[in-house]
Amino acid sequence: MTGRSALVTGAGQGLGLAISARLARDGFRVTMGDVVAERVVAAATELAAQGLDVRGCAMDVTDDESVAAAFADLDSLDVLVNNVGILSRTPAAEFTSAVWDREMAVNLGGTMRCSRTAHPLLLRSSAPSIVNLASVGSTFGLPGRVGYSTAKSGILGLTRTLAAEWGRSGIRVNAVAPGYVETPMMVSGFASGALDRDVLLSRTPLTRFGTVDDIAGAVAFLASADAAFITGIVLKVDGGITIDGSFAAPRH
Ligand SMILES: NC(=O)c1ccc[n+]([C@@H]2O[C@H](COP(=O)([O-])OP(=O)(O)OC[C@H]3O[C@@H](n4cnc5c(N)ncnc54)[C@H](O)[C@@H]3O)[C@@H](O)[C@H]2O)c1
Repeated sequence: MTGRSALVTGAGQGLGLAISARLARDGFRVTMGDVVAERVVAAATELAAQGLDVRGCAMDVTDDESVAAAFADLDSLDVLVNNVGILSRTPAAEFTSAVWDREMAVNLGGTMRCSRTAHPLLLRSSAPSIVNLASVGSTFGLPGRVGYSTAKSGILGLTRTLAAEWGRSGIRVNAVAPGYVETPMMVSGFASGALDRDVLLSRTPLTRFGTVDDIAGAVAFLASADAAFITGIVLKVDGGITIDGSFAAPRH
């Protein structure tokens, strides 16, 4: 599997950074895209110093020209990971049109825009695939996060539709739906009171939070030859939080 290349969006920190490192360790040449150019270039420099074949690249997934420029630099592409995601916490009754449009443009539009731009390159790959980042918000309705939850639910429809349409060309399209992972996004939920650590753990059968490596491993699997007959799925990597039907008081 050497000589394969991947592009990961939102790769400057958090899950995107861990996914980039994992794919590079698996032998991919990885382009790490992020709107915060200095951060992604610094992150890529650090990984490259560990001997990994990565480079950082400025890219805004909401902007056609910026996305086109990032992909124009690539000679080939086998795997696209649409990892960028943003979230705002506002009651639905107060959600402004501007914030709504922004969340759709980044979370959903960015995934479509990058997939469409990657398509001609993926057609030339012998084992092309796309992995989109969904969320528990694709399964649960998340009060106070109407834009995020709606967009992440849309990621499932987008994943299935592209899988059905592009499978005929050999392009596999899947999604990974992370549970609660200790990243800046989740910690901001503790700070705002939207999330409670003990409640989350009591609702998670595996009784722990996820790690960035848990998510990176699932993305790497879906991008690998071991997943060659898998397309259109949503792989939940959430410790079971979305399947637990027990509603007894927590045991102490
Ligand atoms: N952290 C979790 O617990 C969790 C749970 C479920 C799903 N997810 C999903 O996983 C993905 C990554 O989450 P994270 O916690 O690592 O996020 P994060 O906020 O730590 O990182 C997101 C990255 O995306 C970049 N970005 C934002 N807007 C961009 C744009 N327009 N163009 C290019 N880059 C942009 C940011 O600069 C940042 O580096 C997201 O899609 C998120 O919704 C995360």
